[in-house]
Amino acid sequence: MNQALPAGIHTLADHAAHAHQRLDLATLAHIDGGSADEVTLRANAQAWQAIGLMPRVLRDMGAAHTRTELLGRTWEHPIFIAPMAHHCLAHPQGEQATAVAAAALGAGLVLSTQSSTALETVARLVLTDPGRGALWFQLYAQRDRSQTLELVQRAEAAGFEALVLTVDVPVQAPRDRERRAGFRLPTHIHSVNLRKSSSPTGPQAPQGQSALFQQHLGHAPTWHDIGWLRGQTRLPILLKGICHPDDAREARRQGCAAVIVSNHGGRALDSTPPTAHLLPRVADALQGDLPLLVDGGIRRGTDVLKAVALGASAVGVGRPILHALANAGAVGVAHALRVLRDELEIAMALTGCSTLSAAHEVLVHTPTRIASV
Ligand SMILES: Cc1cc2nc3c(=O)[nH]c(=O)nc-3n(C[C@H](O)[C@H](O)[C@H](O)COP(=O)(O)O)c2cc1C
Repeated sequence: MNQALPAGIHTLADHAAHAHQRLDLATLAHIDGGSADEVTLRANAQAWQAIGLMPRVLRDMGAAHTRTELLGRTWEHPIFIAPMAHHCLAHPQGEQATAVAAAALGAGLVLSTQSSTALETVARLVLTDPGRGALWFQLYAQRDRSQTLELVQRAEAAGFEALVLTVDVPVQAPRDRERRAGFRLPTHIHSVNLRKSSSPTGPQAPQGQSALFQQHLGHAPTWHDIGWLRGQTRLPILLKGICHPDDAREARRQGCAAVIVSNHGGRALDSTPPTAHLLPRVADALQGDLPLLVDGGIRRGTDVLKAVALGASAVGVGRPILHALANAGAVGVAHALRVLRDELEIAMALTGCSTLSAAHEVLVHTPTRIASV
């Protein structure tokens, strides 16, 4: 079923505004909201906007391109879809529509552990498409290692090419906007990759003990689990949710293939600095030893160029994809990806930047250094 793009949508902001007319308020609060006071959520987008780009003129752009190399694959452009739970909240075709659109536009796709479509179904749909981008599986470590392993083996067998282990939410931060709106996952939408028993709820903590520390976090993954995971899979492992340079160094030491600088789009620890500020610090720490990816607040092609200029090999987009999906299914997502890529190309043309490897030359200033953390 092909849906037409509604009139008047030209930018990712237009997609957001239009989605606000289509989705119910509680679903919007879940998708758009961040944690607590949403300080980080707001800061993410503002920080990209605050970085300047310098126009350059009269350069020969005849051989310009947006290609980049990452984990043994050529990407036609550096844009990927960040992992997000339950795309069926935005559209009945959910992850299937998102995946088809990503493949058509050559964009990388990271499928969430909490997808509302089975990981095998998504992989089957796009795996043989010669123009598709990278296909990665986002992993949440489960309470029980055998269940984590089952997910890893299923992802490998289905043809996913890397594991993205998300490490920044061992506990869910308070999502006050969605709580106030009374958001509940509709009964027909499920995390279909997970067994029912993988829900983190357990018995009450004995008196005097913290349910969070002694019970829940007692089972949360630690650095020791990275070595274990590496021993279980031939797939490269990326860590998503790295903010501190020392954590990035540890990821390198543990043999991870790449890190994704991310604050979960402002849904994890509120008051985490924006990723535009964190990225250069992590890049400094790694000195090019590991590829870096980033997400959080990317809304324009100029933001993509700035992120690449600050050291990212690829740049993830979250909420705008769900907005576009709500607006017009696969057509909407393809449109949003096309807009972002077109804007990136225009930004490169106007800064005289013919390849992404020259992007660092176009920044007017990098964000203010944050005092050491
Ligand atoms: C509705 C929603 C669900 C998300 N679910 C996941 C998830 O299942 N796994 C994960 O690693 N990140 C998840 N994220 C975080 C995104 O991967 C990404 O870090 C963030 O959305 C990027 O910021 P942006 O939305 O401003 O582009 C989710 C984000 C949103 C908005």
